[in-house]
Amino acid sequence: MASTNSAAQVLVASNRGPVSYDVREDGSLHTKRGGGGLVSGLSAIGSDADSLWVCSALSEGDREAVRRGVGEAGVRMLDIPADVHADAYNGVANSVLWFIHHMLYQTPLEPVFDAEFRRQWASYETYNRAFAEALAQEAAEGAAVVVQDYHLTLVPGMLRELRPDLRIGHFSHTPWAPPEYFRMLPDDVARQVLGGMLGADRLGFLTHRWADAFTACAEQFAGGLGGTRVGVHGLGADADFLRERAHEADVDERMAALREEIGTAPDGGARRTIVRVDRTELSKNIVRGLLAYRQLLDDHPEWRERVVHVAFAYPSRQDLAVYRDYTAEVQRVAQEINSEYGTPDWTPVVLHVKDDFARSLAAYRLGDVALVNPIRDGMNLVAKEVPVVSDEGCVLVLSREAGAYEELGEEAITVNPYDVIGTARALNEALSMPAGERAERTKRLAAAATALPPAQWFLDQLNAL
Ligand code: F6P
Repeated sequence: MASTNSAAQVLVASNRGPVSYDVREDGSLHTKRGGGGLVSGLSAIGSDADSLWVCSALSEGDREAVRRGVGEAGVRMLDIPADVHADAYNGVANSVLWFIHHMLYQTPLEPVFDAEFRRQWASYETYNRAFAEALAQEAAEGAAVVVQDYHLTLVPGMLRELRPDLRIGHFSHTPWAPPEYFRMLPDDVARQVLGGMLGADRLGFLTHRWADAFTACAEQFAGGLGGTRVGVHGLGADADFLRERAHEADVDERMAALREEIGTAPDGGARRTIVRVDRTELSKNIVRGLLAYRQLLDDHPEWRERVVHVAFAYPSRQDLAVYRDYTAEVQRVAQEINSEYGTPDWTPVVLHVKDDFARSLAAYRLGDVALVNPIRDGMNLVAKEVPVVSDEGCVLVLSREAGAYEELGEEAITVNPYDVIGTARALNEALSMPAGERAERTKRLAAAATALPPAQWFLDQLNAL
């Protein structure tokens, strides 16, 4: 319930919360705790501080937990009806707003803003309103509320009307679309999204590029920023956590297993590795990454049998057919490369699609080259995590369209993510880089990548608010 300790109270609102629940066969509830920047950020405000995380129930297990009154201290999970949530999350947030901000539409046929979209938009409004009402009810006088991401763009405006006393921030973990793309949204919807965001006192973005795009949209379609301030907070990697976690026994086991899968070169030496780790989102560009690797094997046959592409493509948003199809395409192209180039002793692409954090860290530690080539990405934390964890230095091949480019571009080999030939050239350059230069660059990348650890990232936003 609302606290009177107003100076200290901080509320966070996000679609996905820090805990989730599964119903076990015996009917008991199993709790899973998540990690990530917000979790460590929120822990940084200290255990005495009064904080509350408002999130949505996402699964049947979560809904059951709400119904049974099971919960974690400091977390309020909203039991938004499953159909309303599906329309808001899958229909609007992931199929429209994510596509707009990442510029993913194949425009000859999509988007189509029809009656079905309008129905889903009404659910998005209902879902945002449920958050705004819960926050209004929970917040103490003058509390600070930080709303996360494109799922909740209407919340700041709705909350401002309900509770003008609050300090309201919003943080975008994605890019923001430039005006020429943003204007694809129906005019009234575009105005609602901008009006919702501009209900905040302060808006945070991961890079200047996304902040400038928002400002341009506000100027063109909403008459300017009004009193809302805009700031940039480039979330960095959590070095202490990663270095410790990457040296636990399960990671060593995964490294041994991966080395087994990678095998040794014909001359008996270790094979070189190009690693990539992604949630399989449509913006990650995994297929062109595979095509670039194939091009490398064509242009530089000397690498055949001496290099392996280790690609982890973990499932994401599997309710959406385009995501399932994309994962299938990644598997198909990897398989094609393996049958075309593979030999009895060499599997050119080692692809895994089952999420395993310890194995990701193992790949970070042993990779010679990391390929991070998204067509557009808010930040991309993999680009920041690899240099922190790498054992002997890892060359970063980085897309100029990733948010991380703003901070890491100078020490990486940068690519146009659409240019498969250019990416193949960059991979060759990365594989050929002398060990000394590779280690030096990795050190400088790690320093840049950890400049703003999650705790500081979160505190900076609160202080600015
Ligand atoms: O990467 C952008 C982002 O919106 C993150 O802020 C967030 O953690 C994630 O994507 C949401 O993903 P999901 O749909 O799996 O909850």
